[in-house]
Amino acid sequence: METKLANAGDDILDEAAEILKSGGIAAIPTETVYGLAANAYDVNAVRAVFRAKGRPQDNPLILHICSVEMLYDIAETVQTLALKLAESFWPGPLTMIFPRKPHVPAETCGGLTTAAVRMPNNRFTLKLIERCGFPIAAPSANTSGLPSPTSARHVFEDMNGKIPLIIDGGECRYGVESTVICFENEDTVRILRPGAVTPEMLREFCHVNIDGGVLEKLAPDAKVISPGMKYKHYSPKAEVYILKGSTESDENYLSAKDGVKTGFLGFGDEKLTGDIVRFPYGASAEEQAEKLFSSLREADAAGCTEVYVRMPDTSGIGLAVYNRLLRAAGFRIIDADGGSDAVH
Ligand code: TXA
Ligand code: MG
Repeated sequence: METKLANAGDDILDEAAEILKSGGIAAIPTETVYGLAANAYDVNAVRAVFRAKGRPQDNPLILHICSVEMLYDIAETVQTLALKLAESFWPGPLTMIFPRKPHVPAETCGGLTTAAVRMPNNRFTLKLIERCGFPIAAPSANTSGLPSPTSARHVFEDMNGKIPLIIDGGECRYGVESTVICFENEDTVRILRPGAVTPEMLREFCHVNIDGGVLEKLAPDAKVISPGMKYKHYSPKAEVYILKGSTESDENYLSAKDGVKTGFLGFGDEKLTGDIVRFPYGASAEEQAEKLFSSLREADAAGCTEVYVRMPDTSGIGLAVYNRLLRAAGFRIIDADGGSDAVH
């Protein structure tokens, strides 16, 4: 199959809508990461998404909507708190989990009785959903396990030959996937996956619990609310390690390495010697979110076999950066100051 790359604009809207209406799949831009879109109500289209990504069948998809009216077509009940959060954060990077109506296919939701819903903040994609008239199921448009795509080029690397159309909407604004929450009661939510809607932002509205799976390694047989938490994720081919020492100890640790092509994502104040390739990361949590996935992909493209990433600050969107990084690194943290969790 030939894969067409087209700029997001009104001239490609009809073609994209036709593909989705006739049961096909296409990659679409959002403000978080690129998504691989299908009609959420068409079981065969949804199966094609799972196939193109190589995604396990029990990992449910997010349903993308363009109006709160569409939410009522999906959700059996919508709590007052959910409506308040929708009003404040939609369109935007917040995904909420609801009990689903029977007509929402189980396949779309990984066999669960719930559905995850979000309204993305991307003009083209909102128009596309409106044009289609149905919610668009869209996981991140990467091959399962690889870093999520934050540009159309990344999608092309993974999906060339597998899908007919990639809509190029430029670089994604946030660079990490949406915050996923479920409701524990009328005034408490649980964060299952952190994102750009931070715990601090949610606390303005309700109590916020952060699920243990966000920062802890789950036992292989652990029962999880969000199946995505149990899979290996976001990993480039290179081995990724988190460096948690002071600037000086991290510099010394890296300088002592030789014989391996080594990539490094640092805050920008490190003086490096030796054969180490630096990739964009940045000093602020926002920059780190934006650059993490693209830099991990770049490190692979440059042939690095090991990549070291400085431990981010975990406040704000930094919690999302650290959550993705822990998974990319398989929870391997090196304390270059010589602490007890040094593993390498
Ligand atoms: O920002 C995003 O959310 C992007 C863009 C494309 O919208 N999408 C995305 O989808 O990250 P995906 O499929 O890569 O991640 C969806 C996550 C998974 O961890 C999945 O397990 C969880 O949401 N999820 C989906 N439906 C769920 C449900 N009914 N209950 C619990 N977790 C659910
Ligand atoms: Mg994903």
